[in-house]
Amino acid sequence: MDEDAGSMTRIFKAGAGAVVTKSIGLKPREGYPNPTIIELECGILNAMGLPNPGIDNFKDEIAELKKSKIPVIGSIFGSKSDEFSKLAKNMEEYGADAIELNMSCPHAKGYGLEIGSDPKLVKEITSTVKKTVKIPVFVKISPNLINISEIAKAAEKGKADSIVAINTIKAMKIDLELKTPVLANKVGGYSGDAIKPIGVRCVYEIADNVNIPIIGVGGIHTGKDAIEYFMAGATAVQIGSALYYRGAKVFKKICNEIENWMKYHNVKNISEIIGAAHK
Ligand code: DHB
Repeated sequence: MDEDAGSMTRIFKAGAGAVVTKSIGLKPREGYPNPTIIELECGILNAMGLPNPGIDNFKDEIAELKKSKIPVIGSIFGSKSDEFSKLAKNMEEYGADAIELNMSCPHAKGYGLEIGSDPKLVKEITSTVKKTVKIPVFVKISPNLINISEIAKAAEKGKADSIVAINTIKAMKIDLELKTPVLANKVGGYSGDAIKPIGVRCVYEIADNVNIPIIGVGGIHTGKDAIEYFMAGATAVQIGSALYYRGAKVFKKICNEIENWMKYHNVKNISEIIGAAHK
């Protein structure tokens, strides 16, 4: 998905409450060679390699979004806490409304999951960033962990304002004729319909272990999908792959379906169902 100011503005105008930028690092990165993305039966497999223009070149992009008063969540990735804090500071100066720490890219060497699987590092990076910026800081965590609750708790101890769960799942597709993995990077991150039950389980587990809000993400394309995440304990949701499949009209569709579900079930306020599955 191309996530420039133009496409993010279209997404916002189509009914999203905020936009999350692509993950930005300190220096421009080309990313991996093609193929970087393939559509599978029940989802999308991608290994882009964190391509991005670098933080210095991202200023205008945020400025463009802020011209239309769009709430922007600036996603950043780094390999250590001083990198994350420099990126967060720049994002804040450029006008971002919140920061999302991507500590969960499933394959980029030195980044993502390599950091996001270590509770000490997660706490240290989160608390360093929290001391650097005034805007809220979200920590996006990976489902590719046996200790997901421990990681969420580490982010909470670092004073994260919210947990974003989940990032993509480590996966692979092999071409039978060529007898080789399809993605140039071999391993990628799987998203879309197939990962929704995994995301719901992760949010449910995290909700049992932390007292900060959770933003649910993974395989949401209907109002009922969002409601399932709410019942697991999420207070908001993000949409990714559904945009690829269904375009920006998916936001209004999801919002309408949530409203219809609430009316039918006599739910006046969404807070009535948040965490409902825990009772
Ligand atoms: C990439 C980054 C991610 O955070 C992810 O979940 C999958 C892929 C990437 O840039 O390759």
